[in-house]
Amino acid sequence: MPAIVLIGAQWGDEGKGKATDLLGSRVDYVVKFNGGNNAGHTVVVGNEKYALHLLPSGILTEGVTPVIANGVVVDLEVLFHELEALSARGVDVSKLQVSANAHVITQYHRTLDKVTERFLGKRQIGTTGRGIGPAYADKINRVGIRIQDLFDENILRQKVEGALDMKNHMLVKIYNRRAIHVDEIVDDLLSYAERLRPMVKDTVLELNRALDDDKTVLFEGGQATMLDIDHGTYPFVTSSNATSGGAVTGSGVAPNRIDRVIAVVKAYTTRVGAGPFPTELFDESGEFLRSAGFEFGTTTGRPRRTGWYDAPIARYTARINGVTDFVLTKLDVLTGLDEIPVCVAYEVDGVRHDEVPVSQSDFHHAKPIYEIFPGWKEDITGARTFDDLPKNAQDYVLAVEGMSGSRISAIGVGPGRDAIVVRHDLID
Ligand code: GDP
Ligand code: IMO
Ligand code: MG
Repeated sequence: MPAIVLIGAQWGDEGKGKATDLLGSRVDYVVKFNGGNNAGHTVVVGNEKYALHLLPSGILTEGVTPVIANGVVVDLEVLFHELEALSARGVDVSKLQVSANAHVITQYHRTLDKVTERFLGKRQIGTTGRGIGPAYADKINRVGIRIQDLFDENILRQKVEGALDMKNHMLVKIYNRRAIHVDEIVDDLLSYAERLRPMVKDTVLELNRALDDDKTVLFEGGQATMLDIDHGTYPFVTSSNATSGGAVTGSGVAPNRIDRVIAVVKAYTTRVGAGPFPTELFDESGEFLRSAGFEFGTTTGRPRRTGWYDAPIARYTARINGVTDFVLTKLDVLTGLDEIPVCVAYEVDGVRHDEVPVSQSDFHHAKPIYEIFPGWKEDITGARTFDDLPKNAQDYVLAVEGMSGSRISAIGVGPGRDAIVVRHDLID
């Protein structure tokens, strides 16, 4: 099973980093195919805790070749900062490959991200402020700067001029900010070029050849299905395809080469930033999930919104991504609850919807219909087989599996690398 896509099933922070790390020792390549440093993956290895943003989590496993593919937007300052921080902690980062076709995030993207959010006022998305949306907007508008442009100063200058032309009018006339000089941007980007040069590769060729040679390639999604630009809760989404299709366009590996699609799903739901969230809790149960699950953003430190498990969302994710396996994470966080509600359908204006409604406004008004499951009090963090779990926890997993459209192949029972129950091998 050489090509595996791993994506988020909900609104992000499901524990993708940990799941990637779990597979790490058995894969040859880990590829980031979408997003940028808006992602935040916390991986706990023994007593060490790593917070990764731009780099794929697979970088923590010795021997793995990490790849930043064409679909990613790269903030070079962040890239080198993360590489240096990992090197200082003894992680070998020398194998990293960066696609010549990936786009770069510059200072004007970060500035625009912040001023447009401010301008939106009440309608703001609650972005991470990292310049992600403006960088992808430039890509689509065909005024983006790609990694390969850094190696030809003339071309780079022309492209930056082109990109800044309209933006400076906007910054000065609409947003009341100072104009950004072409030289400022060009000099900044050029300052990274020589350090970057050895990492820049034709990653499409590299990855396809790796698959030809029967190597195992893991495509690690940033963000998640409900934040996907096409399939998420638009406009409260990120600006890339975080679904399995994004792994194909974002890496240049064809869809018929993908063997398996793993979706990471939390045993409850969280969301950072604005937008609809039917099972959101505003009471002490929500506070319980936030404190027991330590639900604070890895990237921005914002408290995450919390709610119960939403089965129609899991089914939606299974359908859109072609999910072959779910990894259900953070089951341990539910320990201690007397009862655990699971959303099985919605009610919109008196009408029952068994699936996620296509109308955004219906989804905004959707009221969850819950089925209630009995909780458990036993500590499950030491469980390593399904049989180690208390009966009520087993029943919860089986019930959720029955509603979610694919099998649950692994269950997270704690943040540590080994705190996992594997029911079906995720690679063979
Ligand atoms: P990602 O963005 O999907 O990689 O997820 P994050 O790293 O942002 O958030 C997931 C958090 O949950 C991290 O702090 C992980 O260490 C933690 N985590 C992952 N799996 C489990 C689990 O099964 N149980 C508990 N308690 N924590 C987990
Ligand atoms: P990981 O990979 C959770 C959210 C932001 C905001 C919206 C748009 O850790 O799961 P952006 O800066 O991307 O333009 O913000 O998307 N968001 C995330 N939420 N986890 C993430 O990544 C996220 N990346 C972006 O909060 O609502
Ligand atoms: Mg995260």
